[in-house]
Amino acid sequence: MTTEPRFIVLLGPPASGKGTQAARLREMLDLPHVASGDLFRENLKNETDLGLKAKEYMDRGELVPDGITIAMVMDRLGRPDCADGALLDGFPRTIAQAEALDEALTERGHEISLVPCIAVPDEVLIERVSGRRLCRVCGESYHVKFNPPQQAGICDRDGGGLYQRDDDQPETVRQRLRVYWEQTSPLIEYYRQRGVLVEVDGDQSIDAVTEDLRTVVGDS
Ligand code: AP5
Ligand code: MG
Repeated sequence: MTTEPRFIVLLGPPASGKGTQAARLREMLDLPHVASGDLFRENLKNETDLGLKAKEYMDRGELVPDGITIAMVMDRLGRPDCADGALLDGFPRTIAQAEALDEALTERGHEISLVPCIAVPDEVLIERVSGRRLCRVCGESYHVKFNPPQQAGICDRDGGGLYQRDDDQPETVRQRLRVYWEQTSPLIEYYRQRGVLVEVDGDQSIDAVTEDLRTVVGDS
């Protein structure tokens, strides 16, 4: 495996499997998983000002403003464990965020090496969201039908209780999908033009998607 720093962006609509796949890839790649949604939820759990502010937007299915989001993710990427790269999930989500990331990486002499985009039809996404459950302790993502824990309602990793995200209500999910197509999908073309985009079929089993991602990540 290359020792060059690797910054990989997992792109894809809500519930396309970014978090699920990142949890599997981070072990193979030995890179930290930097997920903007998880960072917001962590802030909310700790009742920080940032978390409470972000919640207003998240509950409506809208994007948190760029200024707040960029500052939070840049702070995370500035920590020592990201010196050799990171597996980004949910960031960037706007062209302004992508430009801020490019600028910050260029300053460090790095660049985005790969952007796998996980494609899944909207109707499949709705079914995935409605069955999603998350661990209160570690944030691990499960699905009641497609990826159930060994014991219902309990995380396999640490025994934490599982819960449903507030923004996984059907109306909020539809809004998140609208926002994805309006504000985030232009990034597909942005990264295609830079020659780093690879499309991955996300409408397959979790294992099959992991296999395809392993291939594209290994080849890059
Ligand atoms: P965020 O937490 O990033 O949510 P999201 O992008 O909407 O994506 P999800 O986490 O819902 O889905 P996922 O792709 O990780 O899927 P998962 O693996 O869990 O963001 C939440 C909010 O925070 C945003 O709406 C916004 O308000 C704010 N925010 C975050 N980042 C921001 C940014 N950069 N700028 C501004 N605001 C920001 O899988 C979903 C379910 O499907 C699970 O149950 C899983 O088990 C199941 N599943 C996964 N893969 C498969 C498969 N292949 N087959 C069957 N089931 C599967
Ligand atoms: Mg996620």
